[in-house]
Amino acid sequence: MSATLRITPPVAGARILGVGSYQPARVVTNAELAQTIDTNDEWIQSRVGIASRHVAAPGELLIDMATAAAAQAIKDAGLIPTDIDTVIVATCTMPTSVPNASARVATALGINGVGAFDVNAACAGFTYALAVGADLVRSGSATRIVVVGAEKFTDWVDPLDRSTSIIFADGAGAAVIGPATEQQGPGIGPVVWGSAGDMAEVISIADRTSFLHQEGQTVFRWATTKIAPIALQALEQAGLQPSDVDVLVPHQANLRILESLAKALRKSGAREDMVLARDIVHSGNTSAASIPMALAHMRADGSARSGDVALLVGFGAGLCFAAQAVLLP
Ligand code: UT7
Repeated sequence: MSATLRITPPVAGARILGVGSYQPARVVTNAELAQTIDTNDEWIQSRVGIASRHVAAPGELLIDMATAAAAQAIKDAGLIPTDIDTVIVATCTMPTSVPNASARVATALGINGVGAFDVNAACAGFTYALAVGADLVRSGSATRIVVVGAEKFTDWVDPLDRSTSIIFADGAGAAVIGPATEQQGPGIGPVVWGSAGDMAEVISIADRTSFLHQEGQTVFRWATTKIAPIALQALEQAGLQPSDVDVLVPHQANLRILESLAKALRKSGAREDMVLARDIVHSGNTSAASIPMALAHMRADGSARSGDVALLVGFGAGLCFAAQAVLLP
């Protein structure tokens, strides 16, 4: 006998309802780093664009930072934790891989029992997780999801390795997503994603006792040649033109990579007044946290406004990349 299964009726799409972020209190300047490693403020600012970054206290856990960012995003959405039915945490820096971060974040938020899973696409983690979350909402499988990007990269970076310790930092960002009404229409566009596993070794952690290894120049070349076409495809998939983009929020990898991406998009028709996220300057590279953290900071300082079209572009270890256009809450 062949049975037919019922599925949940789909909704009109998903929208971002609120954003939030959390950064540890301790700020580490380039001058402070230069006290322990052979570097200087001029080199770091000119090559990477970072002036300072936030570093978690030894006892401050990734799940603490993720929970704080999630709580802020839920509040920003005008919701309370019990409105959330799914928690997704994008991260690649948990101290151990079992248990995951998301179930403990759910419990810390006071919503023990909800669906909870982690996504590891490294620095592209948030854009991957947002895409998965948006499709869960669209299909009716989930209703309101908090999607978090959280990293404690300082656990995995050799403080004495000047090629990485100046770049990576700690923090968390989050977005709450929920169903769009027919009248509103979708606020999260289709994702364009992919990977280059043949280049996996260029950003890697060899084993649980090793620190992050990065072939910086190879990653730089890859990012500055392969990512702009992905960003343009994401616009096309959403039925948008480059000139529609109000805010460009790439993963905050390196200011030179971000400026090169903005330049490539402007050559393709993006506006001169398109705002480029430059959160890296005072946050460093926080991997999966960097995009939602930049969104929250830009909303707070007024450089991104409600209703703006934002183009999110994640890329990094894997190598993995994912981009989508969204409407800001
Ligand atoms: O989120 C993950 C995505 N990852 C990225 O986006 C990383 C992309 N790549 C980069 O951002 C850059 O390649 C780096 C910032 C990692 C490095 O910059 P670079 O311009 O590619 O420098 P380099 O590796 O070619 O090094 C140039 C010089 C070398 O010295 P010599 O051999 O020319 O004497 C390095 O030893 O700069 C030296 N150097 C430093 N000097 C001062 C490397 N790190 C430092 C430092 N301070 N921190």
